[in-house]
Amino acid sequence: MFQSLDDKFELCNGVQVPCIGFGTWQIPNDTALESAVASAVQLGYRQFDTAQIYANAGAIGRAVHNSGLPRESFFITSKVWGSSRTYDGVMTAFEETLGQLKTPYLDLFLIHWPAAQGEPMIWQSQNAGTWRALEDLYDQGRVRAIGVSNFLPHHLVPLLARARIRPMVNQLELHPGYPQFAAVNFCFKHGIAVQAWSPLGRGGLLRNPLLNEIAAKHGVSPAQIALRWCLQHGFLPIAKALDMQHQKQNLDVFGFALDLTDMQRLDEMPQTAFSGLHPDTVTF
Ligand SMILES: NC(=O)c1ccc[n+]([C@@H]2O[C@H](COP(=O)([O-])OP(=O)(O)OC[C@H]3O[C@@H](n4cnc5c(N)ncnc54)[C@H](OP(=O)(O)O)[C@@H]3O)[C@@H](O)[C@H]2O)c1
Repeated sequence: MFQSLDDKFELCNGVQVPCIGFGTWQIPNDTALESAVASAVQLGYRQFDTAQIYANAGAIGRAVHNSGLPRESFFITSKVWGSSRTYDGVMTAFEETLGQLKTPYLDLFLIHWPAAQGEPMIWQSQNAGTWRALEDLYDQGRVRAIGVSNFLPHHLVPLLARARIRPMVNQLELHPGYPQFAAVNFCFKHGIAVQAWSPLGRGGLLRNPLLNEIAAKHGVSPAQIALRWCLQHGFLPIAKALDMQHQKQNLDVFGFALDLTDMQRLDEMPQTAFSGLHPDTVTF
């Protein structure tokens, strides 16, 4: 169990991931993002999550560079979008991302969505071709770990059957009210680490009465409850916060613990704050 912000999660290949990440979805590539990342770095965040589709890697790269800290202090993730889901498409997207971040390597590169529409033979073989590019980047030392995002067991099984290197990470929507335990258990059984996206349900979860009740009991905020729930399950939460007080609060999750009853009630709460983005029904 994580005891402090400095604690790391060790992936199956030995790479260490800072236990709390900072998300950047829907933050434009501008000075607001640059200063949000700069304040996050000052507060102690070292893990940053971006994606080809977010089109904001430049601001993250500038903030990381301007921090004056060595590149090795950071853990930077990006994800390849569906429009680049071919071998050559991945290679081009990867080089573009490195150019925007102004870094010689990535810490983690993910296939963003399984793009599981239409004939299974087609999307499964597209995913296998995409994965081969990630494997080659890993072999070349251009990326320290590779993985997937939004892959459920029925997307992972065909990928694992053809993979030379197993995914090290699966990034899933995970929060109280959307725990996706079947996918999580499958990942843990196969040694795949789990990152939690939208751990605060994009803010929507924070008004929930159960989270507020448990938060009041521990004298913390509902956001801290949702993040603590992730950590106690062994998921690595990636929360987004532009507000510096939110950024600070989201790191302050090591001074209390949820008891078994709290965990069980959060595990069993009805579906709440689901994004609506299911990998079998999205059109990307
Ligand atoms: N792999 C994927 O397909 C995928 C999909 C979606 C997201 N993600 C990743 O996951 C990250 C996080 O998800 P998200 O951005 O959807 O949402 P989120 O982290 O669940 O929630 C962000 C919202 O919560 C607010 N907030 C943050 N901390 C708070 C606090 N302590 N108290 C009250 N409000 C707080 C933020 O407000 P302020 O900004 O005003 O502070 C923002 O409105 C993304 O940014 C992205 O990096 C990945």
